[in-house]
Amino acid sequence: MDKFLHEWKRTHNCGELRAEHVGQTVTLMGWVQGYRDHGGSIFVDIRDRYGLTQLRFDSSVDDATHNLADTLRNEFCIAARGQVVHRGTNVNPKMQTGEIEVLAEHLTVFNRAETPPFEIRDDLDTAENVRLKYRYLDLRRKSLQRNFVMRSHVNNITRNYLADNGFLELETPVLMKSTPEGARDYLVPSRVHPGKFYALPQSPQTFKQLFMISGYDRYYQICRCFRDEDLRADRQPEFTQIDVEMSFVVPEDIYGMIEGLVIRIWKHVLGVELQTPFLRMSYAEAMERFGCDKPDMRFGMELKNVADILASSTFNVFAQTIARNGSIKALNAKGCASLSRSELDGLIDVVKPYGAKGLAWFKANADAWQGPVVKFLTDDEKNDLTARLDIETGDAVFFVADDARIVDPAMAALRLHFGDRLGLRKSSDYAFLWVTDFPLYEYDPAENRYYAMHHPFTSPHPADRGLMSTDPAKVRAQAYDLVLNGTELGGGSIRIHDQETQAEMFRILGLTRAQAEYKFGFFLDALRYGTPPHGGIAIGMDRLIMLLTGAQSIRDVIAFPKTQKATDLMLDCPTEVDAEQLQELSLRIRTENTK
Ligand code: AMO
Ligand code: AMP
Repeated sequence: MDKFLHEWKRTHNCGELRAEHVGQTVTLMGWVQGYRDHGGSIFVDIRDRYGLTQLRFDSSVDDATHNLADTLRNEFCIAARGQVVHRGTNVNPKMQTGEIEVLAEHLTVFNRAETPPFEIRDDLDTAENVRLKYRYLDLRRKSLQRNFVMRSHVNNITRNYLADNGFLELETPVLMKSTPEGARDYLVPSRVHPGKFYALPQSPQTFKQLFMISGYDRYYQICRCFRDEDLRADRQPEFTQIDVEMSFVVPEDIYGMIEGLVIRIWKHVLGVELQTPFLRMSYAEAMERFGCDKPDMRFGMELKNVADILASSTFNVFAQTIARNGSIKALNAKGCASLSRSELDGLIDVVKPYGAKGLAWFKANADAWQGPVVKFLTDDEKNDLTARLDIETGDAVFFVADDARIVDPAMAALRLHFGDRLGLRKSSDYAFLWVTDFPLYEYDPAENRYYAMHHPFTSPHPADRGLMSTDPAKVRAQAYDLVLNGTELGGGSIRIHDQETQAEMFRILGLTRAQAEYKFGFFLDALRYGTPPHGGIAIGMDRLIMLLTGAQSIRDVIAFPKTQKATDLMLDCPTEVDAEQLQELSLRIRTENTK
């Protein structure tokens, strides 16, 4: 009988052995990564999550072992025991363990494997849906394993850091009543209460505030959140937050606490020393200078408002935009005059998805400016543009004229396009930014109502409190986002901590007193019992790991992710359930909705 497992325990992992181990008898366990028969000697690479080691079965081993070695195929799960020997002239410098090999004397096959649907290697072009269906094999690949090892490390650092700072890790329910954060809820039907539903949390927002009311002044949780929203490369229907709440704080206290955490993560995981404090910029300034609320600060190329310079332009598009109080923003793409006419015209495709109807441009050539709008520019306008946009020979300048809600996102996208094109968005640069003073409300003209830009528990700026009832659109919130390299990593706010302001907030959001009572009665009640001033933040763990690993998709940092259509290809879910299960839940499916 095999002595493996019982007597011969694993002595080393497959990434560990070096020249210094030569002469030792070792036992390795792992998966077959490749095999070669070289005239009597069989070479087998054994792999685990730590690395790869070469096993050699010489013709001198007993026949049974040699024959068994001959049957090994990729992904068999095996154990081998033997002596570490130096490879001599056959050292493989590309392999961490390439100085040595294990001269195997004993072998066991724990389990054979079918030929996998794709090879377990990093440079794989297999379609993602196949990888997701066989996710357990996909997860054997080194690049994914690196991501999940890092993710585990970040979890540990986060827990230790927050514990060091006196935070309590407290759990909150997953079956709850909805706290609206702007997305749809996932609902769970109640069997015991026919026709009634729980909601899965979009975040533990109300619970963490209740903890503050209960006096647990520093709370955190690494928690799962559920949002039924349109998915993108950095969004999943369930995702993880590092959720934090603190009592007796102002925004700077939150910034400092989170900067400390981020510094520790970057130092321990990447060996990178970050400079603090991180840059801070108001929402208004970010919109003005970059056209978006999460600017990538790795490079400049700021947008310039040029409506004043072009106020009496004879170019129809500009004139009409100015007449209806629209916006004209320009961007100077340094050194891009070398682009061809068709390349320049093609850039319209970058701004079109945002509703831009055109993209005006000119190149500053040595002899003259050249482009479709140059003929409309007066000498004064040219001089003013040159000064504002710092135009030099060789530059290309772009304009979009329209309503600000089109110009800003369109020009922000164009800026990122040139950032990429000019190699200014290096993955090894980390440009953190706090965007502060978001508006409290967002107005929806279609529904003729205000929405809370962050969430309805966010406190107005003390100076703007009086404007809540008179001019909601002007109220600034004590809300902030943490942005890294153009991605929103986290967001939070100082909360409303008095019952009157909270009730007024619900009223402005269009909730009647009865509706507010029905949805949030428990919370309005709680606010009456000595609520401390408090605030917090939630960092998106998945996005954090994406940025740390450089992963292109959020699915590469979630072990068992869902597709863009919110399905799990491995489990093959969501699925239908049988009639009894529905009956127990007092549910009936309307078939006209299912196909
Ligand atoms: P917010 O809704 O801004 O705030 O979410 C905080 C962070 O969570 C991440 N995130 C997501 N990650 C992946 N997939 C998603 N679908 C997704 N949605 C959000 C983002 C985001 O910055 N309760 C408040 C926090 C607070 O006020 O303290 C909240 O949830 O990185
Ligand atoms: P046209 O007069 O439509 O031929 O446009 C002349 C130039 O102005 C073209 O380069 C268009 O792409 C550009 N243009 C058209 N509409 C806009 C707009 N709203 N903002 C900026 N440029 C525009």
